[in-house]
Order: sequence, then C-alpha cells, then structure tokens
Amino acid sequence: MNPGLSYKVKDIGLAAKGKLQLEWAEKHMPVLLLIRERFVKEKPLKGLKIGAVLHVTKETGVLVRTLIAGGAEVYLAASNPLSTQDDVAAALVEEGAHVYAWRGQSPEEYYWCIKQVAESEPQIVIDDGADLHAILHSEYNDIARKIKGGTEETTTGVIRLRALEREGRLLYPIIAVNDAYTKYLFDNRYGTGQSTVDGIMRATNILFAGKKVVVAGYGWCGRGIAMRARGMGARVIVTEVDPIRALEAVMDGYDVMTMSEAARIGDIFITATGNRDVIRKEHFQLMKDGVILANAGHFNVEVSVRDLEELAISKREIRPYVTEYTLPDGRKLYLLAEGRLVNLVAAEGHPSEVMDMSFANQALSIEYIHKNPRLPIKVHKVPRQIDESVAKLKLKSMNIKIDKLTETQKQYLQSWSLGT
Ligand SMILES: NC(=O)c1ccc[n+]([C@@H]2O[C@H](COP(=O)([O-])OP(=O)(O)OC[C@H]3O[C@@H](n4cnc5c(N)ncnc54)[C@H](O)[C@@H]3O)[C@@H](O)[C@H]2O)c1
Repeated sequence: MNPGLSYKVKDIGLAAKGKLQLEWAEKHMPVLLLIRERFVKEKPLKGLKIGAVLHVTKETGVLVRTLIAGGAEVYLAASNPLSTQDDVAAALVEEGAHVYAWRGQSPEEYYWCIKQVAESEPQIVIDDGADLHAILHSEYNDIARKIKGGTEETTTGVIRLRALEREGRLLYPIIAVNDAYTKYLFDNRYGTGQSTVDGIMRATNILFAGKKVVVAGYGWCGRGIAMRARGMGARVIVTEVDPIRALEAVMDGYDVMTMSEAARIGDIFITATGNRDVIRKEHFQLMKDGVILANAGHFNVEVSVRDLEELAISKREIRPYVTEYTLPDGRKLYLLAEGRLVNLVAAEGHPSEVMDMSFANQALSIEYIHKNPRLPIKVHKVPRQIDESVAKLKLKSMNIKIDKLTETQKQYLQSWSLGT
C-alpha cells in the first residue's frame, strides 16, 4: 500500500476477505475485464484524478480496479450510509484507492466522506444519486468549475441534474449513464427486480407465494420487481401516477389501483418511484397487522418514516434490518432497512452480471469525457456507439451470435419507394 494514501474504512484487516469478493465479482464481469485489458495496454486515464461516490460493493470494486488500471487516481466514498461492504472498502485501499466508506454512517459522517472526495479536486466525477454533484454545485463552486465532466448512475440522480441544467446552474457536462439502454433495461429491471426480492427474503425469510405484493411505481425498477415477485408466486398489485405506465401494468396482467385501495389488502409493499411520501400516514392507518414495508428507490423518502415514527407508540428491531412499529390499536408494521434501498442494505445489491454492463458504460463514458474535453455543459446521453459496444461485448461473452443485415436489407430499410 502507498504510505501516502489517505483513507478511512472500518477495518483495513478485512482486505484479504474483500479481495476474494472482488475475484468472485470479476468472474461474472467479462465486459469490464475486456475494457480493463485494453486500459492496461493503452493507459487512457493516465494522470487523471477521478472522484467517485458509489455504493461500495464488490462490483464497484471491479470498476475502481479498472480505472486504476487505466492510469487514474481514484477517490471513493459511499452513495448510501448503509450500503458499504467493509471488506471491499478495505481491499480497495490496498489496491491504491483513497476510500472513505464504512457501513452504518451517521448523516454527518456520510457527508464528511463525500466532502473528502470533493476536496481532492477531482477532474472527472462519478456519482450515484447526485449527492456529490449537488455538494460540488452548492459548496465547492471553484472546484466544480475546473471539472471536465461527470457521470450519473441512477434515475434519481439524473432527475436532480436535469433540474440543475433547467435552472442554468450546471457547471460541467454530465453523461447520464442511467439512460443508456445497456444500463436501465438490465440493471434497473433485472438487477433491482432480483436483488429487491432477495433483500426482502434475506431480511424476513417470509414466503412470497400467495402473498399480495404491492409495487409502487411501474418504471424500470418497478416492472422488474413486479415480474420477479410474480415469479415467486405472489399476487402483484401495481400503483402508478402515470396513466400510460398504469395501462402497461394492466396489460401485463397486474391489478392496478390507488395506494389507498392497495393499503387495505397488501401484505408486502415495495416502493420504486424516485418520489417522496408514496406510502404515508393515511395509508399506514389502513394497513393490516403484520405488513412488510420495503423501499427500492434511491432515497429513504418513499415510505414516510417520519409519519411512521409519529404514529407509532413503540418500535424495536426484531431482526437485523427489520424494525417493528406498534400502532396505538396494537397493529404492527415492519419496516425493512430503515426505508433505505432494501437490495443494498439487506442483500448485496445487483448481481455482478448486470453491473458488468452498467460499469462498462461508466468506464467508457469516463474515457469519452477525458478524450472530449470540450463537451457542451449539459446532460448528455451515453454515445450510441458506447451503448452498442457494451451490448456487443456482452453478447460475445455469452457466446451468442446475431444476424447481420444483408446489403439488400440495408437498402430496403433506407428507401421509401418500395411499398405493397
Ligand atoms: N435499488 C436499486 O438498486 C436501484 C437501481 C436503479 C434505480 N434505483 C432507483 O429507483 C427509483 C426508480 O427508478 P426507475 O428507473 O424505475 O424510474 P422510472 O422513472 O422508470 O420509474 C418511476 C415510476 O414511478 C412512478 N411514480 C412516481 N410517483 C409515484 C407515486 N406517488 N405513486 C406511484 N408511482 C409513482 C412514475 O410515474 C414512474 O413510472 C429511482 O429512485 C432510482 O434512482 C434503484
């Protein structure tokens, strides 16, 4: 380990265990490994300082290794106070990253860590949820103005950055990695779908079969969760505010109703909206005894914990990540993971196979920003060639070949004159 390396993790002695986790993740991240092979040869990020705020999981570890292999110096903090895998954080320090992350941070510690990343004066920044971007834009304007560009990993972060752009206050260009097809179609849908059900099962060990599962939000995460809950034998109810998405849910075969109607009959409630107060006092008052409340959206505002605290006469932790709230009439409601991302807190987050594609987009977008220093200051899409190259590499790694257009087909698709 470099003696000058600055870091703060729970226990550096966990590094050996963390390295095994990285090795395991790498077995399932072939696309990122191919990118790393090229990065080792070409060193496209040589001398670049990258500041990253991401869930410190084994998959993020593989991304950090890739960036370091490309020649970058990496400062890393966690994008959630409860999602860090402490062994991975320790291993990454040994790999040469400046890591400020441990599981179970207070809000003050969480922001202190993000500030260490901001104060390192990074040239390119990676964020998941936009807390780093927001701090750079509010408290570190001088540092932000020198930043070449940044990326954003999740839907909620992209929404916040578009708001900054609309107000004319964005200080550096952003690539919305979340909006790449090879990100949200797989990570948000299959990754969140599987790992959310996994988190609820690990925390509670309850049976999904026969339960009424209420999924709030039929976006990319919500549809993955609904699909996987149905696959486990649950009867799924969807709540929405967007009429088109509500209609899609109906035609996909789910019951659609308001949260007030669903509150009376649901057994397990899962929010995935990116919005606040989706389940609140008026809904808790209608719920059955014993219901389970979980959130898969980015922030802990979707299930109103404040309302629960106000309504309850007592609370206790009955199992790890399960808080029992007792209401005045004796009903008990169970909140998982303090209302934070249940898949990252009570399980391990997305499987490596989907993070392979999300983080391949991250690595290639960082390289793109570095090679294109004069990108206009706005929120950009991931360039189509990057998105397609990730899909091609993933298919190749799965040994799947697809057809190619013939010359006649190409001409046909470009002409207007041929009809019936
Ligand atoms: N848990 C994870 O690992 C993980 C992974 C990816 C994204 N996310 C987060 O999950 C959230 C959802 O992401 P997404 O990509 O599915 O977004 P999305 O925009 O595709 O879908 C959100 C849906 O919620 C609906 N909605 C908004 N307010 C609602 C309300 N009050 N009641 C019911 N529905 C409502 C919207 O109409 C929309 O259809 C975001 O916060 C995102 O950052 C979490």
